[in-house]
Formats: sequence, structure tokens, C-alpha cells
Amino acid sequence: MKNNNKVALVTGAAHRLGKSIAVELHAREVDIAIHCGQSIEAARSLCDQLNTKRANSASVFQCDLTEPDATDNLVEQIIQIFGRLNYLVNNASIFYPTPFLETPNNELDAFMQINFILPVKLIQTAFPFLKKSHGAVVNIIDIYAQRGLTKHCDYTASKMALLEATKQLAYRLAPEIRVNGVSPGAILWPTNSGEQDQPKQKFIIENTALKRPGIAQDISLTVAYLLLDALYTTGSIINVDGGRRLYI
Ligand SMILES: NC(=O)c1ccc[n+]([C@@H]2O[C@H](COP(=O)([O-])OP(=O)(O)OC[C@H]3O[C@@H](n4cnc5c(N)ncnc54)[C@H](OP(=O)(O)O)[C@@H]3O)[C@@H](O)[C@H]2O)c1
Repeated sequence: MKNNNKVALVTGAAHRLGKSIAVELHAREVDIAIHCGQSIEAARSLCDQLNTKRANSASVFQCDLTEPDATDNLVEQIIQIFGRLNYLVNNASIFYPTPFLETPNNELDAFMQINFILPVKLIQTAFPFLKKSHGAVVNIIDIYAQRGLTKHCDYTASKMALLEATKQLAYRLAPEIRVNGVSPGAILWPTNSGEQDQPKQKFIIENTALKRPGIAQDISLTVAYLLLDALYTTGSIINVDGGRRLYI
């Protein structure tokens, strides 16, 4: 895949926000390394869609990020295929309720691994290539990283850690690369948590300044802005939440 386009790795890109981010960046002439965990069919279908629009502009990389050496292998394979890496979007994450003292298994390790440690390791592994290309990172965080989310203690802790790491890494890795964050509010309802229930969704919307959920493109446009346009911005977290954080 040798051309002059920039290359972005988007983790968890097969569905939902990750897919929207991949599509938006691709529309702006960025070639896409589509990472997926279990959703290989959806990732291949997205890849076909992008390659139909522009030949040899996307490739799928499947790995469970918690496997040993996953981040090293992922970056190595991307460099083998594309020859470079300009942008990293740490989007993959897990989200389900773990109320403190009410959860039978200690899930904290899994949340910290997937939502905090692996994104940081991926930045570390990708850094030599990002540095070479004066690249940039966007970490997808969450507005609840600023205040906490009742019944989601482990998730909140992991996103708080990622929020702080985003600022720290922006400082440490400057001026070579920029590191920013996007904190979504209610954009796409989770498929595996209590927030599927209608009364909870109604409550969230009523307690959002703009009185509606966002759409995936609200996030992907902000990611594209931070990666491609905001060249004097680093260590910043943009809330894309319709004003939800004003109520929590
Ligand atoms: N949706 C919202 O409204 C909202 C609100 C606040 C924050 N966020 C944040 O925005 C980002 C995207 O949200 P989303 O709702 O679109 O995410 P999601 O559907 O919950 O998850 C995104 C992807 O993460 C991947 N993933 C999880 N664990 C993995 C592992 N061990 N190895 C490899 N891949 C793994 C999965 O890929 P596979 O399916 O391929 O396994 C999954 O499709 C997340 O960081 C989330 O915390 C979203």
C-alpha cells in the first residue's frame, strides 16, 4: 500500500463510534488501519466499503488487545502493510456496570487494561512512527471521567486514568507529537448496560442542555478536527455531550 496518504489506526473500528471515525478520516484522504477484536466480519465489510471508494486505502487488523504482545504485533503489522503511521485513535473500550461492593468479580483489572493501560501502551509502541511523521493521537474518553458515574466505578476509574494520561503524554511527547482527547456524552446507547432502558435514557436526555442524544458523526468530526486541523492544540479534551456534563 504505497502512496502518499496519511495512515490512521482506529481501534475497535468495526462498529459504532470507531466505524464512524474510520469513515470520516477516510473521506479526508486518510488511509485506515481498521482494528477489530471479535467483529471480524463487520471490519471486513467496512474495509471493502472503504477500498471500493479508494483502492488499497484500508486494511483489517484483528487482535484481542489483552493478548500478550498485542500492541507490538499490531503496530508492526501496520508498518509492514502501510509503511508508516501518522495518527492513532484509541477508541476500543469496555463498558458495563460494576457497582462498588455489589459486583461479585473484581473487574477492575479488565477495565484498567483495556480502557487505560493498552491505549497508553499503544501510544508508547506507535511513538517512533508517529514521531517520524509528526503525527497525533486522539484518546476517546468520556464526560463521566470528570465526575464519575454511579454503578460504573471501574469504568469511570479507567477513563479518569486515561484522561490524566492524555494530558501527561501531551506534555511528555511534545513537541514531536500531539495528544488530545474527545469525551463523548450520550451518543449511542450501550447495548449491554442499564442505559438501554427507556426511563434512564429519558432522564439523560432531560438532563442534557441540548435535549437530545448526539450522533456518531458529532464524535468523528471532532476527532478529524483534532487530528487534521487543530495543529496548535495538544493536551486538550473536547467534550462532545450536548451540555450533559453541566447537569452531573
Ligand atoms: N457510545 C457512547 O455514547 C459513548 C459515550 C461515552 C464514551 N464513549 C466512548 O467512545 C468509545 C466508542 O464507544 P462505542 O460505544 O462505540 O464503543 P463499544 O461499541 O462499546 O466498543 C468499541 C469496540 O471496542 C472493541 N474492544 C473492546 N475490548 C476489546 C479487546 N479486548 N480487544 C480488542 N477490541 C476490543 C470492540 O471490538 P470488537 O467488536 O471487534 O470486539 C468494540 O467493538 C469508547 O472509548 C467509549 O468508552 C462512548
